[in-house]
Amino acid sequence: MGAINMNIQESTAFNIPDGVFGERVVSVHHYTDRLFKFRITRPASFRFRSGEFVMIGLPNSEKPVYRAYSIASPSWDDELEFFSIKVPDGPLTEHLQKIQPGDIVLMRKKPTGTLVNDALIPGKRLYMFSTGTGIAPFASLIRDPDTYDKFEKVILTHTCRQVAELQYGNELVAALKDDPLIGEFADHLTHYATTTREPSPNMGRMTTLIENGKLFTDLGVPPLNPETDRVMICGSMAFLRDIKALVEKAGLTEGSNAAPSTFVVERAFVD
Ligand code: A2P
Repeated sequence: MGAINMNIQESTAFNIPDGVFGERVVSVHHYTDRLFKFRITRPASFRFRSGEFVMIGLPNSEKPVYRAYSIASPSWDDELEFFSIKVPDGPLTEHLQKIQPGDIVLMRKKPTGTLVNDALIPGKRLYMFSTGTGIAPFASLIRDPDTYDKFEKVILTHTCRQVAELQYGNELVAALKDDPLIGEFADHLTHYATTTREPSPNMGRMTTLIENGKLFTDLGVPPLNPETDRVMICGSMAFLRDIKALVEKAGLTEGSNAAPSTFVVERAFVD
């Protein structure tokens, strides 16, 4: 048994704090030495909107470290899924990456976030721009029928350094077609994955592909237009800043839960 399992089991001696759920790990899947997915049980009383995030921790200390994690599963799912980076010496992820089925994960009870359908006014096309684990909130939203009720066409872009880092998104989109609840919407979703440091069918930073128009040529759609297009952005700070500038240049304005508009931004993942 590894040291972390010992910690987690010993940790059950700690009480679960007020306002926090203690949930069991159901499954763990490692994609690369930097990325993994895990699923936990869902408390019966826990409600959230697809695209929101929660604070996640481990019961391995009296003062657990919490980090924001987008819920990657849709709001109808009876388990909760998360897609995580492994940060070397990261206070949470150095331990979290070692979790096993049956271990306990802490989750604060209140979900929040702006990458929700409610924060956008209706439109024709919804673009979801992501890098790395920033695909997580979109993994939730593309599995929610409400997204397809509100938008005719959903375009999910995912950019990573390496091909192996695209696997989570590739599997997700491939599985959509066979899903009994949302399979009928699979034709409404376009998945546009790119790499920047390893050859793959589509290459380049999304900022470059928007600026030079290649994204729109490849998709066969006109450039970003505030009349028809809505945008959600999730990724590294630099990515958020640069995509936001391009989207604003195209005439879209930032929305929120209180004042829905044509684009929303969030940074709700570990970095
Ligand atoms: P690049 O390889 O050219 O830096 P990271 O792993 O550093 O978070 O990056 C994830 C992906 O996001 C990489 O493909 C990276 O491209 C890309 N990226 C990083 N910063 C930006 C940015 N400011 N604008 C567009 N893409 C970015």
